[in-house]
Formats: sequence, structure tokens, C-alpha cells
Amino acid sequence: MLHLAAGTDEGWGHWALEHMDAILLDHAHCEKKAASTALSMIFRYPGCPQLMMPMSALAREELEHFELVVGLIRRRGGEFVRQEPSPYAARLMAASRKHEPDRLLDILLCCSLIEARSCERMQLIAGALAERGAEAPGHDMHELFELYDGLLVSEARHHATYVELARGCVEIEEAALQQRLAELAAHEATVLEAAPRDQPRMHN
Ligand SMILES: [Fe+2]
Ligand SMILES: [Fe+2]
Repeated sequence: MLHLAAGTDEGWGHWALEHMDAILLDHAHCEKKAASTALSMIFRYPGCPQLMMPMSALAREELEHFELVVGLIRRRGGEFVRQEPSPYAARLMAASRKHEPDRLLDILLCCSLIEARSCERMQLIAGALAERGAEAPGHDMHELFELYDGLLVSEARHHATYVELARGCVEIEEAALQQRLAELAAHEATVLEAAPRDQPRMHN
């Protein structure tokens, strides 16, 4: 269960396939950012021992994803280059409250929603690829299918990891946690709705 407040239109996956080079570049940046966010939690919250191992493992895994995506970009003749960061994550995180432990709770739940949205988008790309027959080995888009079909499972797990960490790191009743998750999910849907569509991104 991904806890998203609004689902993406089915057609998004096919639209993404028409802009795959741009989507892959953005995706590589997302994996890099996911690794950096996990690492930053270790620095920012040394007082939360429960965060250390899961965040370290997650940072490593996201870097592996980064390497997978950059490898594919290069095999397609492209290169991993700089790009203007998408406003999605910053706008989502802007809803985090300022004082601890609310702040930690909100950051973990926002991270869980980013993972959930990434998972949903990867599912749509893999679905669109499957509709084109890319599940078959030898298909010219088979490598893309394998990448997205493989990664979406990890991103679903990362979503669950962040929700679980919110439970473990912050003293909060389950109902209150669910309520805050629902509030932030509604905010995430609004941020996504308002995202600029001029460039193809994982989160627009
Ligand atoms: Fe990832
Ligand atoms: Fe992830």
C-alpha cells in the first residue's frame, strides 16, 4: 500500500516512454538525491540510533540504483549531466514542521511519499513497456523494462521502510501517524498537480 492521495493518469507511462532520455536523466538525479537524503539523516539525527543502519543501507541501495540508471543512459549513447533540480521534493518538504520531533516525523513521512510516487511512476513505465511487448527478451526496450520492473519493488519497500522508521523514531499514536501521513499525502498530490510540465520528469 503506497498511501498516495491521488493516482497518476494511466497515460503517463506512455508519455514518459516518448521522452525516455529526459526521464532517465531525471531518474538518475532522483536516485542520487535519494542516496544523499538517506545519508543526510545519519548526520542530522545522531540521537536516533534506529535510523543509522536502515539509512546507511538505503543510501547504498540508492547509489546502486544511480549506477544502474547512469549505466543505461551511457549504453543509450547519452551522459549523466547536470540539470535544474525539480521543485517537487523541496515543495513537498516545505510542509515539514519546524520543531522536533514533529520535524523528524514529517521528513520521514515526506520521504515515504517520494518513494511511493517514484514506485507508482515506475509501475506506469513498466506497464507501458509491457503493453509494447518489452517483457520479451530481445525486444529493443527489454533493458528498460527490466530496469523499471526491478526498481519499482525496491521503491515500494523504501516507502514502507520510511513509514516504519517514523513509527520507531517518534513517539506517536498510530491514528495520529496515519492522520499526518494522509495530510502530507494530500499536500504531495497538490504539489504534483502544480509541477511545471515543460520538461519530462519523474515527478511531473
Ligand atoms: Fe531508488
Ligand atoms: Fe528509493
